[in-house]
Amino acid sequence: MIVLDQDNRIFTLHTRNTTYQMKADQYNVLLHTYYGSRIDNCDLSGLIQCDGRSFSPNPNEAGSNRNYSLDVIPQEYSTCGVGDFRLPSIELELPSGSHTADLRYEGFRLEEGKYILEGLPGFYSVEDEAETLVISLKDSAAQVTLELYYGVFENFDLITRAVRVINQGTETVRLCRCASLCLDFLRSDLDMITFNCHHLMERCLDRGPLRSGIQSVGSVRGTSSHQHNPFVILCDRNADEDTGICYGAMLLYSGNFEAAVECSQYEESRLVMGIHPYHFCWTLAPGETFTAPEAAMVCSPNGFGEMSRQFHRAIRKHLLRDPYKNERKPILVNNWEATYFDFTADRLVEIAREAAALGIELFVMDDGWFGSRNDDNSGLGDWKVNLEKLPGGLEALVPRIKGLGMKFGIWVEPEMVNEDSDLYRMHPDWVLRVPGRFPSRGRGQLVLDFSRKDVRDHIYDQIKAILCSADISYIKWDMNRSLTDVWSAGLPAWRQGEVYHRYVLGVYDLLERLHRDHPQILIEGCCGGGGRFDGGMLYYTPQIWCSDDTDAIDRLRIQYGTSFCYPVCTMGAHVSAVPNEQNGRITPLETRGITAMSGAFGYEMDLGKCTEDEKRKIRCQVERYKAHYGLIHYGDYYRLSSPFQDNSYTAWEQVSHDQSEVLVNVVLGCTHATSPFCTLRLKGLNPSFQYQIDGTGTLYSGKVLMKAGYSFPQMQGDYPAFQIYLKAIE
Ligand code: GLA
Repeated sequence: MIVLDQDNRIFTLHTRNTTYQMKADQYNVLLHTYYGSRIDNCDLSGLIQCDGRSFSPNPNEAGSNRNYSLDVIPQEYSTCGVGDFRLPSIELELPSGSHTADLRYEGFRLEEGKYILEGLPGFYSVEDEAETLVISLKDSAAQVTLELYYGVFENFDLITRAVRVINQGTETVRLCRCASLCLDFLRSDLDMITFNCHHLMERCLDRGPLRSGIQSVGSVRGTSSHQHNPFVILCDRNADEDTGICYGAMLLYSGNFEAAVECSQYEESRLVMGIHPYHFCWTLAPGETFTAPEAAMVCSPNGFGEMSRQFHRAIRKHLLRDPYKNERKPILVNNWEATYFDFTADRLVEIAREAAALGIELFVMDDGWFGSRNDDNSGLGDWKVNLEKLPGGLEALVPRIKGLGMKFGIWVEPEMVNEDSDLYRMHPDWVLRVPGRFPSRGRGQLVLDFSRKDVRDHIYDQIKAILCSADISYIKWDMNRSLTDVWSAGLPAWRQGEVYHRYVLGVYDLLERLHRDHPQILIEGCCGGGGRFDGGMLYYTPQIWCSDDTDAIDRLRIQYGTSFCYPVCTMGAHVSAVPNEQNGRITPLETRGITAMSGAFGYEMDLGKCTEDEKRKIRCQVERYKAHYGLIHYGDYYRLSSPFQDNSYTAWEQVSHDQSEVLVNVVLGCTHATSPFCTLRLKGLNPSFQYQIDGTGTLYSGKVLMKAGYSFPQMQGDYPAFQIYLKAIE
């Protein structure tokens, strides 16, 4: 609910459990007065005290009032070069050469539903499930107006933000920085949590107290990256899954980003999040606008668990798009780890036949089916079937797969090219490369200049021809290197600071075309696993391959970290063979199944090599997953323990909305002889319901299971796991 107090120029955004407030003050500065637990309508600017501080300058309007300084008051969108020395949100290069920005409140408007950002991903509303407030700020000297957008999704405690910059003057200005979100706090006794690591180990949680100065994560790789995720949390020092206030902020963007927090001299703090300023410079001619990507915030007064569940609900309902936000996604088998590049049509059909017999529904042909692609040194860019490998092309192969009762999916990597390809031989100028330099290779490949429409059109035409040549239900959209040598032959020297962002807009453009022309095709995002697992991609690809690391034990960490923002239904997760391809670990099939089941489930192995006993187990897993699909994908997710702590087990849970069904998942680390008995206290149950475990035996009340707990069975061997299903009995 948006509450306006026009006389006092106060804007209050209420969600079910939180309140967010801004106020235009006596000098027309837009103050940020409050964000936290829901409170009544009142003027919260009294929380802000002004006192004379040396070396904190006073704006001209303040006259002789030396107590007022932009350097110490919490603001809604920070300026630069005019008296606030903390993190800026915007930086303008004016025709004079000055690098400043000074913003004053101009007005506001309300819009129905949720605003839409042309060409950019964003949360959307259906039937007035959200409201929009737009506040205008103006830099009069620069003749630049900023529109701050707020989308309020009341039931989800979600507030989205975006910024539009409009050059209303008669001269060109340059935008050197334009954050999507600025969030000031009157305190700095907070912890910052970020999600980091590397290829094969993405989104590992890192937590630490804010310290004086600036702490930041970000990416200058052209993608949101394996190394740091565009999602951060600020929270009470003692916040945990169930208690303490925490603020989650995600950026719906798939390119260079920065999330920085500054702890200032007077123990205030400021989070600024948006496109990374590295090599960002956008030219705005008179009348032109620039739109910064969307950011979204959830504040939870009751710990991380509720914050995550609100993000999950909002992403499922208002970010993922039809048809796959509601339709059940098929269980897939992917041939990558089974064959790599070495396959024939018969071999693929054989894998599909085995899979179909086990109840698997979609066969995905991974890398190696096109051009001269027999290893990863050639072929990218030539999206034509390799007829030596697949005689008769997809026209021959797909009906064979479909004849087994399976759907067919295909791998592509549209943004890339190998030098050994027809495309590169024809258009060497279509890659990102700096004049006079040889571009760096990554995985032996170069990056196509997706900021250029002619390049995108060519790729799209090739992919469209493939999609029209056969009945294809699924695409795995991969991206296997970071951007370097970022320079576009399509833009003049003074616009090169736009290339990184135009590249991302180009990727979104192609994905949007695919979605528009082939809405029934399920697109899975991938970037060497989870190198582009972000809210931006989720708008186009409702699931993303979580990591190239398919080891069940490593996956516990990866999926745990991912779950802080992103719902289970978005995490591509597969059972693969043992010893695991990435780390050589041997885990039981049941453990691999339980871990992968908390995701968009599939198999990535040669099922023909499985024993009859393994096949029987796989058939059971497939049936179990299908039976609990609704609970796993749409249920509420509870983390019961952390794989980062030295617990002997990792446990998590899915609970149906009416609390009548619960799936409890537990994976043990190493086991010991005569180990102590463990009791697991469940969460999110209805205390007065009576639950039966796996359809038999004693009934336990929700209260007992939550307060006293459930006692584990004793288990043996390395990394055993179990799953129990609780059903409330009337
Ligand atoms: C990336 C993906 C893998 C696989 C290979 C194919 O690494 O993450 O799943 O598709 O590319 O080259």
